[in-house]
Amino acid sequence: MKFYVLEREDAEIAAEREKLERERQLHIREIKRVQHEDDSIFNKHTIQKNDRYVLLTLLGKGGFSEVWRAYDLDSYRTVACKIHRVNKQWGDHKKASYVKHAIREKDIHKTLEHPNIVKMYELLTIDQDTFCTVLEYCDGNDLDHYLKQHGCLTEKETRLVIGQVVDALRYLGERQSPVIHYDLKPANILLQSGCRKFEVKITDFGLSKQMETSDDCDSIELTSQGAGTYWYLPPETFKDISVKISTKVDVWSVGVICYQCIYGKRPFGHDQTQQRILNEGTILKATVVNFPPKPTVSQIAQDFIRKCLQYEPSNRADVLELSRHDFIKSVSRRIVQQPASPSSRTMRDDLDH
Ligand code: ADE
Repeated sequence: MKFYVLEREDAEIAAEREKLERERQLHIREIKRVQHEDDSIFNKHTIQKNDRYVLLTLLGKGGFSEVWRAYDLDSYRTVACKIHRVNKQWGDHKKASYVKHAIREKDIHKTLEHPNIVKMYELLTIDQDTFCTVLEYCDGNDLDHYLKQHGCLTEKETRLVIGQVVDALRYLGERQSPVIHYDLKPANILLQSGCRKFEVKITDFGLSKQMETSDDCDSIELTSQGAGTYWYLPPETFKDISVKISTKVDVWSVGVICYQCIYGKRPFGHDQTQQRILNEGTILKATVVNFPPKPTVSQIAQDFIRKCLQYEPSNRADVLELSRHDFIKSVSRRIVQQPASPSSRTMRDDLDH
């Protein structure tokens, strides 16, 4: 009897420790964010000629970019401003390549119109070395942050997230010139709070590629081998540069994200650094996906993941097939946007109703 009491106490202490650790991580993140915000040269700035966009809070910082929550004084709405700053030390060739990339990102992103894709409003030039993309604002952090906070999602929550992502991919794939996102990962899936059924939106088309036609067999040559985040990229992207890739690159990423949402870890190279994944050819050896015994997951969910994580693209489901899979069939194209509820409900609250 005493043993059971001690066991229960141990479990409670472990849960409390986990909670405190998550809070600690949140604090560290916030301290870093404030520090970056204080150091930023855009701190307390407005941008564009008539000070149209007022920069309010730094949301995130990448290698050569910062994302700010900003207020658009012309349209009276909150937006996200992604400010790209070309490194002054770079040579002309590197600068030109960076700008070319950004313009391509803008050209692709600006034409996209889907409820689960962050809208791009415009691209502004700030000065010779700096430009800014103005994006639809999502007010609920990203899936990466959510997973770090909560470990994993329930199967039901996963279905809602993945269903919306697949919906967006179906839209990208059905265009006359299909678009491959090429960098789908939890950090690029933004959560929108304030809706009864929460919404997700995919963002960051910086590595995306546009195919010539919508012909099913069409594919494009792999030009940026090693780009993207290795945990989420399929084997064919690690092969010879002449290997052709298709929208099935994103299908693999969906499988990895779905697995991670349910099991709380990535299926391949979870504990490995990016460098180790590359050095050890982890993804090139990713021929079989193993499912842990816990948590208990439905056969349908496992089948969905397996169809995404087929090593050979020819055996992998395409986006259309995926959107018709029983795991998400009931979610795709069914998310109805509802007015924000007045209470401050959490994503979990919303899902439980
Ligand atoms: N972080 C990156 N892009 C964002 C956006 N559009 N809204 C909110 N946070 C973001």
